[in-house]
Amino acid sequence: MRETEEAKAILSDRILSLAESQTIAMAKKARELAAKGYDVINLSFGEPDFQTPQYIKDAAKQAIDEGFTFYTPVPGYPELRQEISKKFKRDNNLDYAPEQIVVSTGAKQSIANAVLCLVNPGDEVIIFSPYWVSYEEIVKLAEGIPVPIMGRLENDYKVTAEQLEKAITSNTKLVMYSSPCNPTGAVFEEEELTAIARVLEKYPQVHVIADEIYEYINFSGKHFSIANIDSIRDRVVTVNGFSKGYAMTGWRVGYLAASREIAAACDKMQSQITSGTCSIAQKAAAAALKGGNASALEMAEAYRRRRDLVLDLMNGIPGFKTYLPNGAFYIFPDVSAYFGKQFEGKTMESAEDLSMFILSDAHVAVVSGEAFGAPQCIRFSFAASDEKLVEAMRRIKNSLAKLQ
Ligand SMILES: Cc1ncc(COP(=O)(O)O)c(C=O)c1O
Repeated sequence: MRETEEAKAILSDRILSLAESQTIAMAKKARELAAKGYDVINLSFGEPDFQTPQYIKDAAKQAIDEGFTFYTPVPGYPELRQEISKKFKRDNNLDYAPEQIVVSTGAKQSIANAVLCLVNPGDEVIIFSPYWVSYEEIVKLAEGIPVPIMGRLENDYKVTAEQLEKAITSNTKLVMYSSPCNPTGAVFEEEELTAIARVLEKYPQVHVIADEIYEYINFSGKHFSIANIDSIRDRVVTVNGFSKGYAMTGWRVGYLAASREIAAACDKMQSQITSGTCSIAQKAAAAALKGGNASALEMAEAYRRRRDLVLDLMNGIPGFKTYLPNGAFYIFPDVSAYFGKQFEGKTMESAEDLSMFILSDAHVAVVSGEAFGAPQCIRFSFAASDEKLVEAMRRIKNSLAKLQ
């Protein structure tokens, strides 16, 4: 969005300096094209294409009928926090008491709460790059200084302990990453996170936000939580939620688990901004956990199949540099081989230009890497049907062949 002069005169510096979410902006452009009658395939979405499992929907209906229509406790219903505590034990071997858990309006709010509670103006926040679009903007809202460090393609875009150590200064307050990662699908292994923890042991002022929202969408086997490493555990905020694993994006339920002090601070922050999240969605989330994670793992199996399909087709597109994404539902190829090429007099200067070309010529919506801190890449979501994925890759290959 470009603010008008009038808007600029009214609005705060805070909001004027905030970038619009690129993924949402791309989805908007795709919808506009579709409204004009074009058959647009949208691979820009960051959400499952599955419906929420029926047993979860049923629990929500029951919650309405049973009268769960009142304000909820700010950090979430005790029943839900208890279920989350059990989930941490069952899946992650982590002992978080219910009082250490704060339920929020999506993992996005959990991250914002934690950043606002930990970061003072001028504090440096190391963000493993490529990163999820909102990290940098949330840090800026807290008047922190984002310090992205770039993982290398040869290492599946994963930042190493050595890279981290070089980036830490006396002003570093926080490190943020997601695993499995949006936008790359990279999954940090236990040894890699242990090496990172060994570095952090030397810097007691540095905290960590480990965003594990894609935990169940993991094709490599074991998910590892950095909070399992006792020496730094109290400095780790573990974020998770229901949007991706249980296909519950619209319900808006996420959570964090942290030391009692940090959890209490996030509770206080949330009490002044949103209060507790939706009563009905919380009851549905509790039912989701009580039902185990079988439905989540079934959906993950479908994503794994699609990952293989897309990767295979993408490897047939000249110039796309790929790698094996081990989780989430994205692939983030390096497309810089096309920079400098032309179509009808227009030169592709950037991933943004190339994404716009792909949208206008192939009618496939994707998201350019700039917003994820990687201007040489484009993000493709494979949370779409096999037919759509095959057709999208066919069209993209044909369109790119037109570039000279
Ligand atoms: C890495 C990452 N973290 C957090 C979120 C936010 O999840 P929620 O829908 O629970 O707010 C997303 C959503 O796209 C994400 O990709």
